[in-house]
Amino acid sequence: MSCDFKRMLNRELTQLSETSKSGNQVSEFISSTFLEKQHDMEIMSPPTKEKEKKKWPMSQISGVKKPSHSSSVAASSIPRFGIRTDQEDLLAKELEDFDKWGVDIFKISEYSGNRPLTVAMYTIFQERDLLKSFKIPVDTFITYMMALEENYHADVAYHNSIHAADVVQSTNVLLSTPALEAVFTDLEILAAMFASAIHDVDHPGVSNQFLVNTNSELALMYNDSSVLENHHLAVGFKLLQEENCDIFQNLTKKQRQSLRKMVIDMVLATDMSKHMNLLADLKTMVETKKVTSLGVLLLDNYSDRIQVLQNMVHCADLSNPTKPLELYRQWTNRIMVEFFTQGDRERDKGIEISPMCDKHSASIEKSQVGFIDYIVHPLWETWADLVHPDAQEILDMLEDNREWYQSMIPHSPTSTPEDKGGVFGMGAMGGGIASAGEKFQFELTLEEEGESDIESPVDEEFTSTAQDSAPSGVLLAEQKQPNLNTPEHLRIQRNFHVANSLRVPT
Ligand code: CMP
Ligand code: MG
Ligand code: ZN
Repeated sequence: MSCDFKRMLNRELTQLSETSKSGNQVSEFISSTFLEKQHDMEIMSPPTKEKEKKKWPMSQISGVKKPSHSSSVAASSIPRFGIRTDQEDLLAKELEDFDKWGVDIFKISEYSGNRPLTVAMYTIFQERDLLKSFKIPVDTFITYMMALEENYHADVAYHNSIHAADVVQSTNVLLSTPALEAVFTDLEILAAMFASAIHDVDHPGVSNQFLVNTNSELALMYNDSSVLENHHLAVGFKLLQEENCDIFQNLTKKQRQSLRKMVIDMVLATDMSKHMNLLADLKTMVETKKVTSLGVLLLDNYSDRIQVLQNMVHCADLSNPTKPLELYRQWTNRIMVEFFTQGDRERDKGIEISPMCDKHSASIEKSQVGFIDYIVHPLWETWADLVHPDAQEILDMLEDNREWYQSMIPHSPTSTPEDKGGVFGMGAMGGGIASAGEKFQFELTLEEEGESDIESPVDEEFTSTAQDSAPSGVLLAEQKQPNLNTPEHLRIQRNFHVANSLRVPT
């Protein structure tokens, strides 16, 4: 179904990879992360020395942290926003924008004492009256959410509970889009919120490919397919069994079954290797879009309904580049810290370093431009068509942010004239980071192995280390005029226009 689309993307990526070393890296990152892996016989066999301690095989879902005693709460003592904080007024102020695209989820995290996920879910469930509709006891709700939040790793730079809260909040805004008004049932809304909340729980900060390549327990458990996503689901559902955690206790059996199926379908669809199929199906839906007499989307079967929900959560998961730039930049900083940490582990193990994970050669700005051009923009453009004109502002923000990252691609003295300004071949390897009159700060964790501290600095101002000889510091460089609309730039846009307007047969 999505064959033409994939073939076209593959052709684009091949061209990109031939332009330069860094073009090649961006291309490899995109194809290894977002396209389903083709069989390739060169799969690396990792060293066997680091065998894990023997455990009972398959005896339980590994790694589920039981709710700590202190997180179990009584109904009588639920604070205003679900969590105890001494910055309640500041939190209240931030939460005023909670139903808007671009709320500062980092501040919500800070003012809630690192409980953004619990606060986000509590706020939404109150607002949508879901606690009443599904007779969820409030103490059970808070106990479950605190347990879930504890099972996100606070020491993982990107895939922690702030990201989960961000996806929850973003999905909630998308659910309220006018084109979908009153389209989804409360049970579907409950499922979408729950799926968003659990969608990355217990994420270890490394990719599916890393888990497979290192013969991890998780890859063994899930036979190498959607390893992380299967695990997030298992942990999310398993936690319901802990004491006073079953938020679905008052649902009927049928509701529970239906909810479980929808949640599984949504979270499995967050596996990025499913991206192209998901997008191709969404394009088909847009082509054959039907609206009701009320002007909202007509979705009259499970397949169409779940498809929109899967894409909605997927869009929320890929929404960093659509957010106000200061938020987007924080997300980029975080994901690069996480990628580089994985790259360091790969280097230590002597296995191949994954694309974009080598702190010595990754081009951050270029990878964001590639990520937007090949993945995020095609998806959001299609979503925007589906809910037209609701997502126009989001799309505009995405395009502005893309131009900003494009303008920040560092110029290299070795770049050829055709490199300049294009997405490709800027030879940014370890080059300086430019700034457009403004300090551009970035954290590249270039300290010696073992010294890196990924927990604290991510919220702080990021310092950039462009050369290995300079372990940290802020680099300021004069930025030449952003060189947009070069032939390369136009070519990509044109080709994507073609790729995006492909009709996918039903
Ligand atoms: P995950 O949150 O599990 O699902 C979406 C994936 O997209 C995410 O993991 C990353 O692998 C990738 N991703 C999301 N945002 C960015 C970004 N700003 N830059 C690069 N990759 C990203
Ligand atoms: Mg994920
Ligand atoms: Zn995610």
